[in-house]
Amino acid sequence: MQMSFTSVHRRAWLSERDCDLAEFRELVERTTDLADYPYASAVERDVLVYDSDRLRGAGDDRAVRAELARALSDGPGIVVLKGAFPDRGVVDRLSAVFDALIAEQRASGATAGDHFAKPGANDRVWNALEKAALHDPEAFADYYANDILALVSTAWLGPGYQVTSQVNVVNPGGAAQSVHRDYHLGFLSDEVAAAYPAHVHRLSPVLTLQGAVAHCDMPVESGPTMYLPHSQTYEPGYLAWRLPEFQEYFETRHAQLPLAKGDAAFFNPALFHAAGTNRSADIRRMANLLQVSSAFGRAMETVDREAIANGVYPVLVKRLGEGADDAWAARVIAASAEGYPFPTNLDSDPPVDGLAPPSQADVVRRALREAWTPEALRDELRAGAERRQS
Ligand SMILES: [Fe+2]
Repeated sequence: MQMSFTSVHRRAWLSERDCDLAEFRELVERTTDLADYPYASAVERDVLVYDSDRLRGAGDDRAVRAELARALSDGPGIVVLKGAFPDRGVVDRLSAVFDALIAEQRASGATAGDHFAKPGANDRVWNALEKAALHDPEAFADYYANDILALVSTAWLGPGYQVTSQVNVVNPGGAAQSVHRDYHLGFLSDEVAAAYPAHVHRLSPVLTLQGAVAHCDMPVESGPTMYLPHSQTYEPGYLAWRLPEFQEYFETRHAQLPLAKGDAAFFNPALFHAAGTNRSADIRRMANLLQVSSAFGRAMETVDREAIANGVYPVLVKRLGEGADDAWAARVIAASAEGYPFPTNLDSDPPVDGLAPPSQADVVRRALREAWTPEALRDELRAGAERRQS
């Protein structure tokens, strides 16, 4: 039986039987019109391309963020931010940290498993956020002070976001992934995903922002990520991506854009996508995969943000002393400390002013304002963590 659903009568449950390739094609076979996105510089293969310097100089931050959010929700679902890291030296310094972490991982005999590739087929560093911060807090701070990362994260998630990072290095010959959607519902089996009501399928994409920073030049032959613009708008999509006809369609229709070192791509986690095959002879394709979670969501990885905040604090003090501005420090704090005060134990951690007790990030900001020693910060963060325990 064919039924039509309007916004006032939306379906309450989704199933694989709702997945219809013709309906999907109607949604995705659209053209992205540059005129609809005044801050964008180009449209390539229906993907919006932004010149990061132009966004930096735009003046009206809220208008820029509104456009990025629209591009990610109702538009193609993906934005490429050229020159997101204008100083490539900052990228290289973090690449050196990643290489050291990979070497340590190999020396310890651990091969990080991967949900899409066989162990050893590529190099993965899970929880690279914490590992990099503890390995080289200066390189970490200079990298995560990035303004474009903060811009697109707040555009999609608002404040209090939580950054997680995973390094992925795909060596020549490394195979493509199959098409998929990402966390949250994208990581659940069809059966489990279908147990969540339809409105949760609509909610899942706004809990996470998916991104990648290119740590080397990535021509198409090296296999940068393949995307299907507009596919994030397909409501039963979490139940569709495993179906053979959808997979075949993705093969014929996807877009794949080259990236230069320091470019970033951010996309709606419901976008159909897959990493490409590395057909190059000699490019070790290194990307920092960023999964940024809403303050209200649960990140996929556990991160010891207390350890990161302590590790990075002396760098914040030093850089502010050297003339870095408060916005610089605010971005580093946002990418490292926990910015949301809940969950907590309201018996031992009652809100004093207003409705919320201080978050880790609030404590770090206060420490900077009041020129605390690293030891004083360490003690206060520990005391805060203990107050939050039930
Ligand atoms: Fe993915």
